[in-house]
Amino acid sequence: MQRVAVIGAGAAGLAAAVELRHEGIAPVVFEQGDEVGGIWRYAEAPEHNLLGVDLAAVTDAAGATARREAGVQAAPPVRVHSSLYASLRTNLPRDLMAFTDFPFDSSGGGEDDWPRFPHHAHVFAYLQRYADVMGVRASIRFGTRVRTVRPAGNAFAVGTTTIGQGGEHVTETFAAVVVCNGHYSEPRVPALPGLQAFPGALWHAHNYRRPDPFRGLRVALLGTGPSGVDLTAEIASVARDVFWCGRAFDTLPADQRQRHNVHQLPDVEALGADGRVQIANTEKQLAQHGRRSVEKSLRRLEKRLAEHRQSLETYRSQGGYTSSVEREIRAFEYEIQAINDVLGRGP
Ligand SMILES: Cc1cc2nc3c(=O)[nH]c(=O)nc-3n(C[C@H](O)[C@H](O)[C@H](O)COP(=O)(O)OP(=O)(O)OC[C@H]3O[C@@H](n4cnc5c(N)ncnc54)[C@H](O)[C@@H]3O)c2cc1C
Ligand SMILES: NC(=O)c1ccc[n+]([C@@H]2O[C@H](COP(=O)([O-])OP(=O)(O)OC[C@H]3O[C@@H](n4cnc5c(N)ncnc54)[C@H](OP(=O)(O)O)[C@@H]3O)[C@@H](O)[C@H]2O)c1
Repeated sequence: MQRVAVIGAGAAGLAAAVELRHEGIAPVVFEQGDEVGGIWRYAEAPEHNLLGVDLAAVTDAAGATARREAGVQAAPPVRVHSSLYASLRTNLPRDLMAFTDFPFDSSGGGEDDWPRFPHHAHVFAYLQRYADVMGVRASIRFGTRVRTVRPAGNAFAVGTTTIGQGGEHVTETFAAVVVCNGHYSEPRVPALPGLQAFPGALWHAHNYRRPDPFRGLRVALLGTGPSGVDLTAEIASVARDVFWCGRAFDTLPADQRQRHNVHQLPDVEALGADGRVQIANTEKQLAQHGRRSVEKSLRRLEKRLAEHRQSLETYRSQGGYTSSVEREIRAFEYEIQAINDVLGRGP
């Protein structure tokens, strides 16, 4: 029987293992942790470095600019895999999130009284049951990190290390390798000028768990995707003010829209050694960083607009609710037009 290696026992790795077994192929699943579930295995303790990256990697202003796109990526010695915060509930209804052959209710891996948008602990329980009911647990080698994958003739040599004292290095050959290592554990931090000298606390959402440390503070929050929406709402419940910075804002939940202490602002441009946060302004961006910098911002917005238009098509074809995505699209169009005006381009 052919042997196939699967890296990771999160949702993707478990599904891959189940499907391989259906095809009569023996999977060997390598999981660095000691349980299945991947990102859904909540970790209360965040990493020691709350920004999750090594600021020493940003050596000077020029280096910072060069890394701006890629983000600063030096990892701490021990990476916490999960990026969940304590209150997180799914942003997809459970019926959509479930594996097709394993519903999220009592006929599959869930319970009938779980909410439509379940808490993360429910998703974790669901994934554990999936591994058990589908019989893949025995194929998982826990506490084993894959270090290398190299071609070896028509196969692949997979090098692993067992985690813990005296970690054992082993190399085995597999006909194929399925990579399911997840992609939401490495914080991506934009290397903003002034990041190193900023005197305030610096956090990445990867290490956010609860709002308590932000009580009474003035908080600038960068990023307007789903994490930005959730964290703005939660932090604003205890902070003095939240300055929510970005270009294309996803919508706050209805009960949060009128909050007196949430202020929507454009992108952050730089951080000051005096604790001030410098907000971008397209005219100033053009004058200080040139046309290419403004055009790059524009491309980011156009990409988000295209994604939203595609979602609109999908929602329409499914007869779904479209007014919030239509509102987002109008906001993107307005913003793009405003930037084009500064660049001297007509509609
Ligand atoms: C904050 C947040 C909220 C989310 N909410 C939703 C949601 O509501 N609905 C939804 O559908 N999706 C959501 N997602 C997306 C989420 O990533 C997927 O639901 C799912 O967890 C992806 O599964 P995965 O198996 O690809 O990765 P992961 O769950 O990250 O699992 C990867 C596994 O690989 C292991 N691993 C990594 N590297 C190695 C290695 N070298 N050797 C051995 N093992 C390794 C890890 O330990 C881990 O167990 C959310 C993501 C985040 C960050
Ligand atoms: N409740 C939930 O279930 C929940 C909660 C949180 C997250 N999630 C999931 O987790 C995943 C990640 O979501 P996310 O919100 O963390 O990430 P994301 O969707 O990738 O959003 C990242 C945000 O950061 C901004 N950004 C990126 N690079 C930047 C830079 N160099 N300078 C300034 N801003 C920059 C982006 O702006 P541009 O787009 O303009 O570049 C965007 O607003 C998604 O799958 C999401 O659904 C789910």
